[in-house]
Amino acid sequence: MVIARTAVIGSGLMGAGIAEVLAKSGLDVIVSEVSDEAAAAGQARIEKSLARAVEKGKLTAAESEAAKARLRFTTDITELADRQLVIEAASENEEIKKSIFARLDEVVTDEEAIFASNTSSMPIIRFAQATSRPERVLGIHFFNPAPVQPLVEVVSSVLTDPGVAESVTEFVSQVLGKTPVQAQDRPGFIVNALLIPYLCSAIRMLESGAATKEDIDAGMVGGAAHPMGPIALADLVGLDTCLFAAQSIFDETGDPAAKPPVLLSRMVDAGLLGRKTGRGFYEY
Ligand code: 3HC
Repeated sequence: MVIARTAVIGSGLMGAGIAEVLAKSGLDVIVSEVSDEAAAAGQARIEKSLARAVEKGKLTAAESEAAKARLRFTTDITELADRQLVIEAASENEEIKKSIFARLDEVVTDEEAIFASNTSSMPIIRFAQATSRPERVLGIHFFNPAPVQPLVEVVSSVLTDPGVAESVTEFVSQVLGKTPVQAQDRPGFIVNALLIPYLCSAIRMLESGAATKEDIDAGMVGGAAHPMGPIALADLVGLDTCLFAAQSIFDETGDPAAKPPVLLSRMVDAGLLGRKTGRGFYEY
């Protein structure tokens, strides 16, 4: 199957980035949102990122315009009927995600269509089971910022058809120009299973007063050649996303390193979610 008609559910931080990647790859993209306001915010996010790509010399103005022309926003999910690939990037709420998959199952007519979730750590099998076609459901997990980070995890549940995972892996590499890795449906897949305990450890270090956030970040940038330190990275990922991911990895594995630090929970309770709200551990 040649994938040409795609959709993304949600246009928050990740959904907008994923929609941009698909549109820049020449695909027709419908972005499904819950309200006109959310759609306008998602569209603005994509336009800002495309403008930055042009400014950075990664894209010509004409390519940016062509990408925009391939994107359409809707608040009516039934418009996704003819889609061949749908990537769900709604908020990290299991019930919301399950209901989206159940609705997609009713709405999308093509039996060959592939349904994917960009969840950072929730079990893919639970979304697959909300549909009548679990063998065509898998994880396609991008990294923030999606237009920049090369990696994509292709996550198979115990019921995913291996042929579907292979086709998606090839699509990620050949059409999206990204680097695919295949992961199993385990808590945190590959990257977050390693990254989230690390971010939690850094927050615990800050919480204990062992070092300042600036010194923790400088340590990992200058001492381990990371592009940014863990406290700044937690702000970039979003502290709510970090908390959800940590909690779900901890719940399933009991890994003490993934136990969410109290400070992380308090920051989220305070609405200090990182870059996206203008303040997290740092101010933006
Ligand atoms: N579109 C296309 N390219 C862009 C762009 C855009 N909108 N914005 C920037 N770029 C390009 C730049 O041209 C540059 O490319 P170059 O190195 O070839 O010149 C590159 O991206 C870096 O951009 P900048 O120099 O403007 O930005 P910084 O140097 O400040 O880097 C960063 C910013 C890319 C965020 C970098 O700090 C980084 O990689 N940080 C780590 C991010 C990371 O680890 N993300 C993963 C988080 S985990 C996750 O998302 C999973 C989830 O489930 C929790």
